[in-house]
Amino acid sequence: MPNVLKEMPAPGVAKLQINRPDVLNALNMEVRHELDAALADCAADPETRAVVLTGNEKAFAAGADIKEMAKAGPVELHALGIEQFWQNLAAFPKPLIAAVNGFALGGGFELALACDILIVGEKAQLGLPEVRLGIMPGGGGTQRLLRACGKYIALRYVMTGDRFSGIKAGELGLASEVVEDEQVLPRAVELAESLAALPPLSLAKIKESVLQGMEAPLNAALKQERSAYYLLHASEDKFEGMAAFIEKRPANFKGK
Ligand code: HXC
Repeated sequence: MPNVLKEMPAPGVAKLQINRPDVLNALNMEVRHELDAALADCAADPETRAVVLTGNEKAFAAGADIKEMAKAGPVELHALGIEQFWQNLAAFPKPLIAAVNGFALGGGFELALACDILIVGEKAQLGLPEVRLGIMPGGGGTQRLLRACGKYIALRYVMTGDRFSGIKAGELGLASEVVEDEQVLPRAVELAESLAALPPLSLAKIKESVLQGMEAPLNAALKQERSAYYLLHASEDKFEGMAAFIEKRPANFKGK
């Protein structure tokens, strides 16, 4: 059985489901490799315009696989090339929605934090408990949490390793939407389907502008936004979008 299942639940939408239910979807090297490959396929496939990343009702992912990590030293961990996985994830060019139910802990929460939009179930349990294992977050957790909710909230949760609920995640600004647990996946797919109907080049440039802008001084970020904006005026989808508005008909965006 694959560790990552792929299906197309709606036009233009790929759903990637982490599938290690016996260990609450703990992320071992196989999961990372399969996820990396599945995301690369989604990036290359023009029919895929948005991706939903999910787990099951018990766990999005309960972190890196502790049994695998327990045996490894820094040299082995480095040689596994885990950084490349996180870099590829961060560079994924299409809308990536995390649909989070159950546990999203450690590397599992970091995986969600690397997505663009988080749909979180009310009863989900999120957190970065690495400190309790004598390590710390290593998949972007300290930095993405800091940037998403500020120093005092980030340190409060990363230093203690305390978990918090989906409802609390919403209050902390760590969720795009908090919904009833049963609604997480349908809502994520619905949102992905609406994104899949929008012009892919606009979405790619919006994502790029927001993510690059988080790392840049305001003036540089505004400059980057402006050049992306001008570039879109050269796209066929710009002419289609504006013509459709003027002609009072739905637009048919092609990603050109
Ligand atoms: C390996 C895991 C696991 C993990 C759960 N399991 N989390 N195996 N790695 N991260 C396994 C358990 O060993 C157990 O297997 C089965 O899943 C069910 O888990 P239980 O503990 O029995 O379930 P429960 O009592 O409901 O408790 C759930 C839990 C707990 C609170 C989520 O499992 C837990 O604390 N897990 C570890 C969470 C964690 O510390 N994550 C951070 C990892 S470090 P068996 O075989 O016993 O049935 C990390 C670093 C990231 O993520 C760095 C990125 C580069």
